Amino acid sequence: MGTVYIDDHRRLGHISKYLYGQFSEHLGRGIYGGLWVGPDSDIPNVNGMRSDVVAALKEIQVPVLRWPGGCFADEYHWQDGIGPMDQRKKIVNNNWGGVPENNYFGTHEYFELLRQIGADAYVAGNVGSGTIQEMQAWVEYMTMSGTSPMTEERAKNGHPDPWQVKFFGIGNENWGCGGNMRPEYYADVYRQYQTFVRNYDPAHPLLKIACGPNHDDYHWTDVIMRQAGNYLDGLALHHYALPSIQHFEEKGSALNFPEKEWRSLMQDATDMDNLITRHSAIMDQYDPDKKKSLVVDEWGTWYDAAPGTNPGFLYQQNTIRDACVAALTLHSFQHHVDRVHMANIAQMVNVLQAMILTDGAELVKTPTYYVFKMFLDHQEATALATQDDLPDTVTTSVSQTEHGYLLSLVNFGLHTAEDVHYAFQTSPVTSVTGEILRGDTMDAHNDFDTPNEVVPVALTTGLAYDTHSVTVTIPPMSVITIHVA
Ligand code: AHR
Repeated sequence: MGTVYIDDHRRLGHISKYLYGQFSEHLGRGIYGGLWVGPDSDIPNVNGMRSDVVAALKEIQVPVLRWPGGCFADEYHWQDGIGPMDQRKKIVNNNWGGVPENNYFGTHEYFELLRQIGADAYVAGNVGSGTIQEMQAWVEYMTMSGTSPMTEERAKNGHPDPWQVKFFGIGNENWGCGGNMRPEYYADVYRQYQTFVRNYDPAHPLLKIACGPNHDDYHWTDVIMRQAGNYLDGLALHHYALPSIQHFEEKGSALNFPEKEWRSLMQDATDMDNLITRHSAIMDQYDPDKKKSLVVDEWGTWYDAAPGTNPGFLYQQNTIRDACVAALTLHSFQHHVDRVHMANIAQMVNVLQAMILTDGAELVKTPTYYVFKMFLDHQEATALATQDDLPDTVTTSVSQTEHGYLLSLVNFGLHTAEDVHYAFQTSPVTSVTGEILRGDTMDAHNDFDTPNEVVPVALTTGLAYDTHSVTVTIPPMSVITIHVA
């Protein structure tokens, strides 16, 4: 039996809803087919956005959507994606898939999608192959009010009012696909570009996000914080979890994998906690008051692409294994709410660890989707510091919500159920309700012909409480949430 001690007075801090952010890149069927089908499609849509996907996304209250990349961001020229659709230039995604797209989904369509799903904007600008003028004009086009060449063009294209851009990224992976820069060089480039990313709306300031480290590149974090720390609001960390860490070309399969790949994936995913701790410690040296955020704007599982699909489209199935990774990673973020204020899982639809998979007019919600749904009440709650002696395969996070507490826990062990006892030091417990998401096999998943194999159900066994405690038995390969009042 592991015990988790909960004391209301020991608070880690506010859980920003932005930890539950999403990312969609112009990649494979992430945008085209997955979100955008166009107004003339037979698939029901509103202004080109497929209605089934929008409805599913509204249920998980997506707080923010990062767009248009990824590596694509540093090849994207936004002016090709505005104005009459039939006059838009085609573009090829040279990083992923190598196929042309028609640019029908551009700036106006992005904000229309945000309007429909109720999310805030996180736009990634082009540093690798774009000019400062281009970036400056895009920010002006999106956010300036009044009269200017850009605001007039925006009005001509049907949107007189400015939009709000909550977050703006100055490049993506500029240590790699975004220009292969050294941190010393990027820090200067960052300082220069961000100068022209102006805040046109003081009531809704745009927060500037610098390209941060890949995984454990602590040198990158140190240099950027030292040379450019005063000019940024957030530093972006990328960390993907892979079953085979040695060979990127042979990462392992999303389905039909051996136990050792379950374990190695979990090990890579749990490393997130350590990465955040170490990058945060470096940031602390330059920003002891923790005013700057560590933004994990790409995270999730990455396997070999599904057989028979374009390998560059990064389409993969999503199983109970992904649900466990999602839960333990979200727990890591919630353990570091003093420094981590936004995270964006890669990627929202049809790419990598997706919420939703589509096939023509069909849609399936993945086990990862259900974790985001089960964790909804963590958003904007207060994370509590807990002390525990849990087994290595179990992690938990406890938040104080408007209505009581939300306890979430994951058991990513393969064979053993674990008993977990939550001891409340202060408040009495008057009621508990639980939900469980579990798999009977390691690759239990939802597919188009069997969409409800892995869905949350009420937790009817193994849950008990008395005035100051809750006890739960968590089966292997499962995620549980418990609302306590
Ligand atoms: O999410 C897929 C890719 O992963 C992105 O384009 C890039 O930023 C990262 O390497």
